[in-house]
Amino acid sequence: MKKIPIYQPYIARNQKKYVNQCLDDNWISSRGSFVSKFEDNLNSYLGSKAVTTCSNGTVALHLALLALDIGPGDEVIVPSFTYVASVNAIRYVGAKPVFVDINKHDWNISCASILKKISKKTKAIMCVHIYGAPCEMNQIVKIAKENKLFLIEDCAESFGTFYQDQHVGVFGDIATLSFFGNKTITTGEGGAVFSNRGDLIEKVAHLKNQGLVTDGGYTHDVIGYNYRMTNIQAAIGCAQLEDIEHILNLKLKLAQKYRSTLSKKVLFQDCNPEKSSNWINTILLQDETEVKSMNHRLKKNNIEVRPGFPLVNKMICYQDSNIEHLSVSESISSRTICLPSYPDLSEDEQSLIISTVLDK
Ligand SMILES: Cc1ncc(COP(=O)(O)O)c(C=O)c1O
Repeated sequence: MKKIPIYQPYIARNQKKYVNQCLDDNWISSRGSFVSKFEDNLNSYLGSKAVTTCSNGTVALHLALLALDIGPGDEVIVPSFTYVASVNAIRYVGAKPVFVDINKHDWNISCASILKKISKKTKAIMCVHIYGAPCEMNQIVKIAKENKLFLIEDCAESFGTFYQDQHVGVFGDIATLSFFGNKTITTGEGGAVFSNRGDLIEKVAHLKNQGLVTDGGYTHDVIGYNYRMTNIQAAIGCAQLEDIEHILNLKLKLAQKYRSTLSKKVLFQDCNPEKSSNWINTILLQDETEVKSMNHRLKKNNIEVRPGFPLVNKMICYQDSNIEHLSVSESISSRTICLPSYPDLSEDEQSLIISTVLDK
């Protein structure tokens, strides 16, 4: 029996052609026309003022925090139910992550929980649109404004997610994307930072390029990083972005199918699939015993799954930061299973996954 992977990248129509163009022209490093083309096209799609690419979604977060001058002595409010990179980036700049709980319905950062954790040291809120579901941006923006806090949106999982007809990421001060192989569009490894504040993106672009002053020499006015994306990666990105509507449509159909067939047995994150990137379809079960038996059945049928994100505040490397019990996060994290969610999942594969979950 062939294994059904949890994810595999979509193969865009023009990606080979564009990559070959880089190879033929020998523009294989981080200079070349595809980088600026990809950035321009991303900017149009996102409806933001400025975008700059970088080497992955983790460094995108690092750069975003640096651009806001967040550092030692500052606190950043962040959900514990996220991929570890969201929190690691806060530590990279020497700030303290302050973990908050999530909502029962959409599994995203809870506004009530944010309000309880704001202190004199709080400098920013980082919201993560988890699995592609948009956070409650109206309320979060209001909290950030009223408390004079920066708002960072981690959109790694939500490329293609819209909130009140605007792409997520444009509500806060600065936002980040990941183009890893399992994301809505991929460049292999890759990321981007975007904002409606052009000055922040200029700063990010400067920092990702070793803090180089553009005088054609080796003058560096800040300690920067080499976090650049290559022309080959951007070439793949350009081709992927051309196919975005098709990719999102395939993922929407899959999300709708999972929801319509499985809802009698399992619960889903509360979100409108038509407005979501539907990154990874994740099911919520009754208890850990059911998770165990479901995992066993899926494994027996060679279906690769993943558990819901383990809580970052409980990881060995973060145990000193916060020992608080985050009841909703713990409950969701221990009862979720991520199902295969790639755009090209065949009808037969979908049927096998569905019948296995239903135990038919
Ligand atoms: C919420 C979130 N933030 C950040 C990242 C990091 O992105 P990358 O893997 O491109 O570094 C990911 C990647 O999976 C993610 O899911």
